Amino acid sequence: MNFIKESADKKPIVDTVFAIVEKAKEAKKTVGEENVVDATIGSLYDESGQFVAFKTVFDNYDKISAKTKGAYAVSFRGNPDFRRKVQEWTLGQAGSTLKSSVIATPGGTGAVSIVLSDILEANETVIIPNIAWGSYALMAKDKGLNILQYEMFEEDHFNIQSLKNCINQLLGKQNRICLIINDPCHNPTGNSLTQEEWKQIIEYINEASKTTPIVILNDIAYIDYAYDLAHSRDYMKNFDVIGENVMVIIAFSCSKTMTSYGLRCGAAVICAQSEESVRDAEIVMEKSARAIWSNIPNAAMDNFTQVTSEHLDDFLMEKQMYINLLRQRSDIFVKEANECGLAIYPYKEGFFVTIKIEDNPLKEKYHEALMAHHIYTVSVNKGIRVAVCSLSVEKTKGLAKRMKDILSEVING
Ligand SMILES: Cc1ncc(COP(=O)(O)O)c(C=O)c1O
Repeated sequence: MNFIKESADKKPIVDTVFAIVEKAKEAKKTVGEENVVDATIGSLYDESGQFVAFKTVFDNYDKISAKTKGAYAVSFRGNPDFRRKVQEWTLGQAGSTLKSSVIATPGGTGAVSIVLSDILEANETVIIPNIAWGSYALMAKDKGLNILQYEMFEEDHFNIQSLKNCINQLLGKQNRICLIINDPCHNPTGNSLTQEEWKQIIEYINEASKTTPIVILNDIAYIDYAYDLAHSRDYMKNFDVIGENVMVIIAFSCSKTMTSYGLRCGAAVICAQSEESVRDAEIVMEKSARAIWSNIPNAAMDNFTQVTSEHLDDFLMEKQMYINLLRQRSDIFVKEANECGLAIYPYKEGFFVTIKIEDNPLKEKYHEALMAHHIYTVSVNKGIRVAVCSLSVEKTKGLAKRMKDILSEVING
């Protein structure tokens, strides 16, 4: 008997990360922790290999009453003070002049998911990067959407032309266009667009939107680990000049910002020139929220609001320690990769560095060979992801050269 609808994708989920995480765990048991490089885990880990849960975040969380933790949120859109705080946190620094509204979502995942559901009709196409967080494609499939991928890079910089080509392909072919830009701190390459690149993207989209409305979904999941935090939102100033036919929806996630992945808290920040456009999107997305998850954890929202108001300085100081650590690790890896000629995609900041292997079959062989040397990484499209977010400084040292040597062995047979 088949109880599941015909159109559903019945193949089991291939969780490429989880499977390798398990292999790394096994290896640690058999050959000893010191002989294993585990660069698989995509969360922040400290130097002793422990998951990082910020003290400033969870000390506050622990003080929240059981009643608050147990209660429903005030609204399907999210608690009012949380929504205000998210608006300020995301758009405030850039002094955005756009009209905006916030819908609380279960993590950044929830935000990306309702945008894909509510902007496009089934069988329409969403534009995503060719090297990307795997959930974009998964969500698209789940919603009956096709994907069109833009090449992330051309030589050592973002491939704006490829993004333009994708937009061009869809112009006039569907009622609206939705494209995802995961920036800054792109997962998995660590690229961040320059001000100039953003300016060009917005200029192009403004022009293109004259025939077809365009929604830019800007996924900022890792923004709070930008190395130049004080200027991390400057690029959003470019959004101020979006045309009437353009909407920007920012997918914000508390998971990384607060090391609270399990509390399932995030938001979709809807921005446009007109109040009416924002309100239209808000109405529909609030209904989707109510239909899918109803409301998100009350205490997680309160915690974000309280930590970023009452404990802001301590929180930022604690987070900065880890940004510095991330920088120390990535500096070592990138410098050593450059020295030994291990090609990586343009890395500026963020949780991951990705080794550039455009030939996917070769990359798969290489991925296996790395594991044979007890170096565990995640295979992504055209690359090998090294999670510097969870790799200690000690384990990072010398890793690029080892990886380069293994690559040479694979290439030379
Ligand atoms: C690029 C990107 N966007 C969004 C998310 C969403 O995370 P969450 O739903 O936990 O906020 C992730 C998580 O890994 C991510 O890597």
